[in-house]
Amino acid sequence: MAAERAKVYLVGAGPGDPDLLTVKAARILAQADAVIYDKIVSPEVLALANPHATFIPARKERGQQEEFEAEIHAWYLRLRDAAGPIVRLKSGDPLVFGRGGEELEFLTQHGFDVEVVPGVSALTAAPSLAGIPLGGVSAAVTVLPGHRQAVKEVDWPAYRHGGTLVVLMGVDHRAEIARCLINGGRPAGDPVAFLQFASTDRECVREATLEQVARGEVDVEPPAVFVIGEVVRLRTAKQVQRAHQTAAPRP
Ligand SMILES: C[S@@+](CC[C@H](N)C(=O)[O-])C[C@H]1O[C@@H](n2cnc3c(N)ncnc32)[C@H](O)[C@@H]1O
Repeated sequence: MAAERAKVYLVGAGPGDPDLLTVKAARILAQADAVIYDKIVSPEVLALANPHATFIPARKERGQQEEFEAEIHAWYLRLRDAAGPIVRLKSGDPLVFGRGGEELEFLTQHGFDVEVVPGVSALTAAPSLAGIPLGGVSAAVTVLPGHRQAVKEVDWPAYRHGGTLVVLMGVDHRAEIARCLINGGRPAGDPVAFLQFASTDRECVREATLEQVARGEVDVEPPAVFVIGEVVRLRTAKQVQRAHQTAAPRP
């Protein structure tokens, strides 16, 4: 009889608030034999994992992604004989940015039985929690990465004609991104909202104009998603009641 293939779940941890974890993700975490987790995953979500599991933090310092991705791959191979499920816990949705696709390909090529458990992505959670209805002004919503490589490779002038932009991983390069957009013809007065620490106790929103961002006048702490475009003006002054402020206590 053929040996059973090792099972890996690529699980979305959501943006931080454990109440935003899916029921399926919580169930699988409770059964995990090993959990390889991104450091951005909140401690409250990690606390839902089987306490007897082996916990492996995935190193992700900037600029050394190739080396650290190879480390994660090596962990998968080492854990091949784990007695129970291996959980790869990634922030938000496991296949929205963050190299989840590469890990899925590696696991499939190396004979693992892989199941993806989608999560609530910061891409949509952060604007929703801030009361910004994506698609509320312009039907076109473009999602862009803002890391160093993307700053060079994205055709920023192509987004000069308006439309809503949502940028992930762009905090460090916000001024450069804003300058690229303005130089490409986007109005300097366009509103920008930085949505920081969405769904956590540190959640806060910082609004500015594209020009202020380009001049380096806007302090922002990662993790943050930023939204650029007229849709930012629709942000409700009252603020949306956050689910985790009103949620019933866990039994
Ligand atoms: C490598 S990407 C991974 C995205 C993730 N897979 C998702 O679906 O949300 C990490 C980026 O997600 C955004 N992010 C993640 N968690 C966040 C949060 N709680 N609040 C704001 N932005 C967040 C930031 O832009 C951060 O740089």
